[in-house]
Amino acid sequence: MTSQVVVSAPGKIIISGEHAVVYGYPSLVSSIDKRVELRIKRSKKNYIYPAKVANFILRGLRKTEGFLNNKVGLEIGMESTIPVGRGMGSSAAIAVSLAAGISKIVSNKSNLKEINKLAFEIERLQHGNPSGVDNTVSTYGGFLWFRKETKDFKTFSKVKSGRKLNDIVLIDSGKPTENTKQMVNFVSEIYKKNPRKVERLFQSLEKLTRNFLRYLLNEEELSLRELIMENENYLENLGVVSESTKKLIRSIENLGGAAKITGAGGKKGNSGILIAYHPRPYVLLNFAKGNGITTLQVKLGRKGVKVEKE
Ligand code: PMV
Repeated sequence: MTSQVVVSAPGKIIISGEHAVVYGYPSLVSSIDKRVELRIKRSKKNYIYPAKVANFILRGLRKTEGFLNNKVGLEIGMESTIPVGRGMGSSAAIAVSLAAGISKIVSNKSNLKEINKLAFEIERLQHGNPSGVDNTVSTYGGFLWFRKETKDFKTFSKVKSGRKLNDIVLIDSGKPTENTKQMVNFVSEIYKKNPRKVERLFQSLEKLTRNFLRYLLNEEELSLRELIMENENYLENLGVVSESTKKLIRSIENLGGAAKITGAGGKKGNSGILIAYHPRPYVLLNFAKGNGITTLQVKLGRKGVKVEKE
């Protein structure tokens, strides 16, 4: 019986389809080369450490029938290179690696479908109404086309991307004041107030997400700059981008580039990580440096959850 395990799971960026994906529209996502690593050890003490995560994990586990009937003591150590609270899937990567690690320790199993299901339960406890896209891409890795058809029925396919998107730069607009749950609730409020407008926006977003897919598959000559600009325009219309972030994005556009939020965004203060593109990436890097803005360069399409050591 395994008593100690090291597992890791990647963060992600949503290339297109955030928020719309909660309402059954498709999204295109990619895992990244930033990961969470958990060291999980059986413990004689009957608790999960750190205590902060213990409650939601245990509730999530018990909800998943037959997974964990008895209390189990675990000690958990965590290291992560995924920026927190920025729309890069840090909480989902923690949920996925917890699910994988605990699954291994408790039942010596490593089944991706089960891991994903359990991670989704953990995410649900944290976010209320997540689409499941974050935990799915963190579990399976790569580029994914994902759709939530009903509350519990999701479909996804791996996308064999012909492009690595190596020329995109991630720009940190700063941590949003709101968390994902608050932003998802905000969209649900405006959906209730103006369903026709929001549905129209989501339909346009679906078309655009498909165009991004064509771009990745090299099926059509599309301009990445235009795709990103159009995406950002819809997200601004939805109201999930703050004024200061819009200003930052306009400056990037004026330099000949484009940028969009990725993930839930933020309204009051900042809006998290931006996917930015310029045909000459150093223009973005110099702009960010000159303005004291943090940038990140990531590799996309990386491996999903992994048992590193047992
Ligand atoms: O937690 P974030 O910032 O990666 O946002 C997740 C993406 C949303 O579409 C806004 C919510 C969801 O559950 O899909």
